[in-house]
Amino acid sequence: METRRLERTGPPGTRRGWNVIRIIRPGIIACLAAAAVLTGADTGQTARPDAALVKQARELFGPLPDVMASPANPVTSEKIALGKRLFYEKRISADGTVSCWHCHPLSLYAADGLPKPLGVHCRPGDRNAPTVFNAADQIAEHWVGNRADVEDQAARSLTGGFGQPSEEAALSRLKAIPGYGPLFRAAFPGEADPVTAANFGRAVGAFERTLVTPAPFDAFLDDDVSGLDESQQAGLKEFIAAGCPSCHNGPYFGGRSFRKFGLLEPYWKFTASPVVDDGRFTVTHDPADKYVFKVPVLRNVRMTSPYFHDGSVGRLREAVWIMGKVQLGLDLPGSRIEGIVAFLDALTGRPAARSLEVPFLPASEARGPASGPGPGPVAGPSLGPTSAPEALAGFPPNEDLMQEHALLSRLLLIYEEVARRMDAGRLGLEDPTRFTPKGPAP
Ligand code: HEC
Ligand code: HEC
Repeated sequence: METRRLERTGPPGTRRGWNVIRIIRPGIIACLAAAAVLTGADTGQTARPDAALVKQARELFGPLPDVMASPANPVTSEKIALGKRLFYEKRISADGTVSCWHCHPLSLYAADGLPKPLGVHCRPGDRNAPTVFNAADQIAEHWVGNRADVEDQAARSLTGGFGQPSEEAALSRLKAIPGYGPLFRAAFPGEADPVTAANFGRAVGAFERTLVTPAPFDAFLDDDVSGLDESQQAGLKEFIAAGCPSCHNGPYFGGRSFRKFGLLEPYWKFTASPVVDDGRFTVTHDPADKYVFKVPVLRNVRMTSPYFHDGSVGRLREAVWIMGKVQLGLDLPGSRIEGIVAFLDALTGRPAARSLEVPFLPASEARGPASGPGPGPVAGPSLGPTSAPEALAGFPPNEDLMQEHALLSRLLLIYEEVARRMDAGRLGLEDPTRFTPKGPAP
């Protein structure tokens, strides 16, 4: 499989002509080098934090925790070790192609970049897939809050996103992979039969509770000059002055309330949504909940296009203009939108290297004890698999699955870098001054 080819190391051109990857690799490296130079130029501007603004920001938003803890599901290293593997595990889906990672690729800020995801048998989902970074501390999960918490969300994915007819069908797939038994027993000690849907949810949930991404904004809250530059501080003032924090507040800039989308005008006139979604009404059947959605988390929002519950809007500038229009009755001019977007950029936090490492995934069948502590890294410093935990000593890895994830992760990182630059107009493909809002349909 092609995956192996990318794994070869060594400077470009030292091994002669073996494939396309080899030919384009110098291009990729040059692109990333240019990116690094541009990034350097960008971060060159630092600014002394405005003391009054820091104070106001602390009151409105507050600091990001290290872990989104829950008394109901204490985070343990054994649960994380299991939950992270289950997050990558596509063998439990009905057609064997879909894992949590499939729709929430961690190396792409855990959102798939599609308006609606493609699930088992390539069937499209009903709503846009939000990121799973900074997502475990909300009043409820999903756009309409029909999942209580991340544990409930993950457990119900077995018969939801994974397309299995029953929990048992999904669990029997897991039980057939010999390496999972010991991992479940280590994570849930003392339980006679720990391979249950609820424990699946607890393990995956514990992993998700660690997925916080501190950003330049958090440095600003700490009064650090590396936080927000002048334009971002001005943008934060715009964000506050416009009234955005009346809904997008707390450490995650959202996730704390349900609000109507389109308080002042029907949202679909501006999003051009092909289908009108009744929102939380579909859960509560209360007419007051028509078009009500959970206020989404805005951390990493710059990286999780397209926007809104139906992925109907591709550009952040446009999403911000629509918010002003339908939630606040403002027709925000381009200059104010630019400021707000510059500020939202400061909510982008690169995921910790450990959450991007491709985990050791156990082989489908026991093939005799593996020698040694597990495979070495296959894909560079941050994307190599974590070595096997103790509970997996003696179990062979599924190298194909791990290589596949390592390759995809790398490609997505490159894609993300290019996409980011395109959106910022740095490739000269988009002129922000020529932004024209969609406006209401006639
Ligand atoms: C087929 C694609 C797909 C798969 C597979 C999938 N998800 Fe999702 N995920 C989505 C979509 C779409 C939503 C939004 C659903 C909605 O709101 O109705 C979502 C929502 C979520 C949310 C809620 C985020 C928020 O801010 O409300 C979490 C958490 C989550 N998924 C985690 C997971 C985990 C963990 C798995 C694996 C057990 C998983 N997802 C599998 C597509 C997927
Ligand atoms: C009255 C509450 C409210 C106010 C005020 C508000 N928002 Fe929102 N915001 C929402 C809700 C609800 C959604 C989800 C809409 C949907 O897709 O169903 C949302 C969605 C968004 C999104 C899309 C996020 C995503 O991941 O798809 C962005 C960006 C956003 N808001 C930014 C802003 C900005 C900037 C302001 C201020 C100009 C603002 N919002 C004001 C409630 C609000």
